[in-house]
Amino acid sequence: MGQSDQHVSQEDGVKPELLEAGRLLFAGEAEFFWAAAKADGLPEMGAPEFAFAGRSNVGKSSLLNALTGRNALARTSHTPGRTQQLNFFAIGGAPGQERLRLVDMPGYGFAAVSKEKIAGWTKLMRAYLSGRASLQRVFVLVDGRHGVKDSDREMFKLLDSSAQSYQVVLTKRDEVKKSEISIRMAETLKALEKHPAAYPGVIFTSSKTSEGIGELRAAFAQVLAERGL
Ligand code: GTP
Ligand code: MG
Repeated sequence: MGQSDQHVSQEDGVKPELLEAGRLLFAGEAEFFWAAAKADGLPEMGAPEFAFAGRSNVGKSSLLNALTGRNALARTSHTPGRTQQLNFFAIGGAPGQERLRLVDMPGYGFAAVSKEKIAGWTKLMRAYLSGRASLQRVFVLVDGRHGVKDSDREMFKLLDSSAQSYQVVLTKRDEVKKSEISIRMAETLKALEKHPAAYPGVIFTSSKTSEGIGELRAAFAQVLAERGL
């Protein structure tokens, strides 16, 4: 299994059936269908939901595009704080017939945002995270160049208190030295030890090179399979 290769892919550890199931999940249609700026503006529950949370600029929208193989499904930006609503995407079927939904959440940890905005955002997040039976897992994206920050720890606490299943995904792998990749992954797992609600596995992705994207798709497939969905 690639033992002799210099570069051992993360996918080596994932069952081929799961990689294939994950690929198929994202091989079909993908369409934006709803934006919620307030807690009472959420769409009705339907297909299984997976959300992306993370600091501003960590690469949430880019990862959503990489997963679905679209360049501009979710708007990406050089200006942090761009995504300010919960944006819902129907995956694998037209809205109403989708296989699953992806939810792009507003970024946190952006200093230049007003207190009012942060308060409104926190309220929306709490409302969404606590009352959403169809939400299967939150992927918390952490910048692979910097590792877990205090604002990420706040997010972990919010998820712990919402009893919401979550998993960390490291981003921008293409900008991290090969020698630092396993160190960053180990540090991240260590930071998660205090958070029993966190899934004890980290995926290191790049939206630029697509590294880790197959493994992340497989993680979706695994959650759905485990829950009979
Ligand atoms: P907000 O919506 O503001 O919270 O940001 P976001 O988390 O959605 O980040 P976004 O996807 O808009 O990306 C922010 C910046 O990081 C953009 O300039 C992207 O091109 C860049 N970026 C995202 N993913 C990657 C990656 O895997 N590698 C590299 N090198 N750059 C990336
Ligand atoms: Mg965004």
